[in-house]
Amino acid sequence: MDIIKGISHIGMVVPDVDAAVRFYCEGLGLTLKRRDNYNAIVITPDGVILEISPDGTDKGDYSGITHICLNTYDVDATFQRALSYGAVISRPENPEPYNYNSLRMAFVRTPSGEEIEFWYIEKNGLLREPVADGKYIKNFVHVALTVPDMKECIRFYEGLGAVLKEDWEWGCSLRLADMRELELFTGGYYSEKAYGYTHYSLLTDDVERAAAQVEALGGKKLEQPYDWSNLRICFCQGMGGEVLEFFQMYEDGRAADVFDKAPETLPDVFA
Ligand SMILES: [Fe+2]
Ligand SMILES: [Fe+2]
Repeated sequence: MDIIKGISHIGMVVPDVDAAVRFYCEGLGLTLKRRDNYNAIVITPDGVILEISPDGTDKGDYSGITHICLNTYDVDATFQRALSYGAVISRPENPEPYNYNSLRMAFVRTPSGEEIEFWYIEKNGLLREPVADGKYIKNFVHVALTVPDMKECIRFYEGLGAVLKEDWEWGCSLRLADMRELELFTGGYYSEKAYGYTHYSLLTDDVERAAAQVEALGGKKLEQPYDWSNLRICFCQGMGGEVLEFFQMYEDGRAADVFDKAPETLPDVFA
């Protein structure tokens, strides 16, 4: 059985939580699940959580995350929508959406400072679909990390059950059991760390086993596993210094924080 079942959430800190919620929910059409006097829980249509906390409050202070990638219905429309909600162009060499193999893609930096990549994967020769009801985002695609040693990080994530999908030498992608992906980059422009992302979280069936495997592979356990709501949690650190939080979901009826059970495994968005 895979140690990693997939991606649970992305942690980020922002200067203004309500402004970030407005960008992601009113702007891009994601769903606000909860806003308390501390943070906000925003959910993609496929059940990945953006855990948005006030600046200076999150555990992970170095995530290595450079960007996250969201699959859209229409990259051009989503890009324009993001700009109209205060996002800016994040990569001067790509000031507008462009085609790459069977993808239409674009990068922006949100008003809070984190970078997002938008995708549309060509279907039936088309590069867009209609956006309905202001829902611009289809699903979560990948988390990108900057790492000092790509080969070492590939070995680490393969040891947790990820499968190397593409290796471009300057970067690579690894697929997780839920069909979502990790991108690793080293050196040069793509290693630039985006402001805001602090950690990301992986679903597992066994937090103790996942943490033990991290240690066996040369990573670090940052604390002892603990229970909180219907979750068992352990913060660890990978080979690139990235902070990963393992989530195990108890399905025994105890009060849930956000989900009673793990979101379903995804259909292959690349198929
Ligand atoms: Fe978290
Ligand atoms: Fe990416």
